[in-house]
Amino acid sequence: MSKEYKRTLITTALPYTNGPVHIGHLAGVYVPADIYARYLRLAGRPVTMIGGSDEHGVPITLKARKEGVTPQDIVDRYHKLIKESFEGLGISFDIYSRTTSDIHHDTASEFFRHLYDKGEFIERESMQLYDPEAGQFLADRYVTGECPHCHNKNAYGDQCEACGTSLNATDLIDPHSTITGAVPELRATKHWYLPLDKWEPALREWILEGHKEWKSNVYGQCKSWLDMGLQPRAVSRDLSWGVPVPVEGAEGKVLYVWFDAPIGYISNTKELLPDSWETWWKDPETRVINFIGKDNIVFHCIVFPAMLMAYGDNFQLPDNVPANEFLNLEGDKISTSRNWAVWLHEYLADFPGKQDVLRYVLTANAPETKDNDFTWADFQARNNNELVAILGNFVNRVIVLTHKYYDGVVPAAGELQDVDREAFAEMARLKEELTENLENFRFREAVKDAMGFARLGNKYLQDCEPWKVIKTDPERVKTIINVSLQICASIAIAMEPFLPFMSEKLVKMLGGDKISWDMLACTDLVPAGAHLGQPELLFEKIDDEAIKAQTDRLAAIKKQNEIAAFKPEPQQPEVKIDDFAKLDLRVGTVLECERVKKSDKLLKFKIADGMGEGRTIVSGIAQHYAPEDLVGKQVVFIANLAPAKIRGVESQGMILSALNADGSLRVISPSAPSTDGAQVK
Ligand code: MF3
Ligand code: ZN
Repeated sequence: MSKEYKRTLITTALPYTNGPVHIGHLAGVYVPADIYARYLRLAGRPVTMIGGSDEHGVPITLKARKEGVTPQDIVDRYHKLIKESFEGLGISFDIYSRTTSDIHHDTASEFFRHLYDKGEFIERESMQLYDPEAGQFLADRYVTGECPHCHNKNAYGDQCEACGTSLNATDLIDPHSTITGAVPELRATKHWYLPLDKWEPALREWILEGHKEWKSNVYGQCKSWLDMGLQPRAVSRDLSWGVPVPVEGAEGKVLYVWFDAPIGYISNTKELLPDSWETWWKDPETRVINFIGKDNIVFHCIVFPAMLMAYGDNFQLPDNVPANEFLNLEGDKISTSRNWAVWLHEYLADFPGKQDVLRYVLTANAPETKDNDFTWADFQARNNNELVAILGNFVNRVIVLTHKYYDGVVPAAGELQDVDREAFAEMARLKEELTENLENFRFREAVKDAMGFARLGNKYLQDCEPWKVIKTDPERVKTIINVSLQICASIAIAMEPFLPFMSEKLVKMLGGDKISWDMLACTDLVPAGAHLGQPELLFEKIDDEAIKAQTDRLAAIKKQNEIAAFKPEPQQPEVKIDDFAKLDLRVGTVLECERVKKSDKLLKFKIADGMGEGRTIVSGIAQHYAPEDLVGKQVVFIANLAPAKIRGVESQGMILSALNADGSLRVISPSAPSTDGAQVK
């Protein structure tokens, strides 16, 4: 830290309430923010952690329209779900509010008005698509039409999902309003723009000169935006859902969602601390840290800071914006619309009491410097091999031994030996490294350090073997158990930011009460004579069945998505009936079917074709059928195809199959038993 601060204001990106939150949100934003907040609290440093829902924007209105409910219904539903799931996972917001609150509407409105009165906006007219039947302007998402690039007929006004090109609604060929189906017309509309170019020199100075310590992914993105040159940005929209533009003649216009949402950080602080919120925003001795995902970098490092500078009045810019990259799921990008996600509320229902496991896996595998992948196999392995086998196992052994040898009363340590002193020295070293990593937002490394205390504990027990020594030198065992209990106490403290549920249990088991970062690595935290609580299981193995239920669910979703995304091959050029008549298609019954040796694709068939002994046909469907499942089935084959040698086998025809959306092949059979050799007409 370059400077001593009196307090830290932690903000967390406000999630959109058009769906639940998933592991990508958690890994990118909320788990790291919570780790940092908990660490600062333990260290006794004043901190406030702000969260809330982002309840405006076009996607919410689209979802409402699709379901035939109001936008308010949508945001009420997801705000509640999101808030409860965060609580369930132990994300320790000091407030979790919402941008539909009165205090937010007032704050955002006042913010706009202040900039307006100061003359900080440019007013501009532009041509926008307008739905004459609905009597309203159309956000880009509300227009569909043909993509000018790939000619997909169902492109959205902001993006063609077929070719991925981002579009303006006015680029679409043959556009239609999604509200009424009407053909939109162009109309002039007025909007307010924040001239980011005006703030470019100040932003360059502040970030490029002043914040070289920012994570390289964040600094790099800012630099490339700044180097491209900043343009004025519209901060209003023609929409009825949002904070109304507080200017006369602005009926039907609201603040752009990315204008009002970051102001939500301020509104929520006000709501929490009506008397002191200004200290948390305007005192230079406050340090603001924004936790966000990488798609939010430009808004937090460029747009919102420009808004704050334009406002003046000493609003503090963020001191750091430790944005993360993305977390993928089983190799694919997480997507709310494709339902490709592990939803937090579903996780909490499927794995009750296992909040810490998810927190641990998402931290150990956090996408801090590059995109990362969440897999259920890794989740299971980290639980079973790390939390259970290393942490849970050590603590359990120590507590059980204390109960067994000393009726749960902490024994006093005698004279320390080298092995004891070395263990304590290692604790001190781990604490230093852990603290350093936490201070610098390196949570992946930090959780390894915290786990280091448990690894140390296991090694210490292994070296000291109290279960053997008890027979020869029972006095010595008192020291070993005492030292082991001190290590347990340090685990409870070091792990609190990461595994708060486990930590609370462990503190109780050790007969403790309040913990603090100062106590970490202390050698006499658990006093001799204290009574331990009952041993409780901290972690338990997760079996293959529970994991399979999750991977099966994902496989089913993948299949649905493939079917939904299926685009039939374009139709072949026209043929005459005579061309078709040249193909001799017949029905036959499979007499024998076996794999072709040394090939994983080919099956060799003997087909009863009604014409002779039976014919041999080789077909590339071995990955789609077990040979025995086809015996006795009727199939359709081309009888007059010129024979060909495939892997040394002469194939006398070809079996017809359908190639499906998911890539599977299914042989074509008559719908009722038919005569072998019957022609397909
Ligand atoms: N809702 C936005 C998203 O999910 C984040 C808003 S962050 C805030 O990407 F700063 F605007 F609040
Ligand atoms: Zn396209």
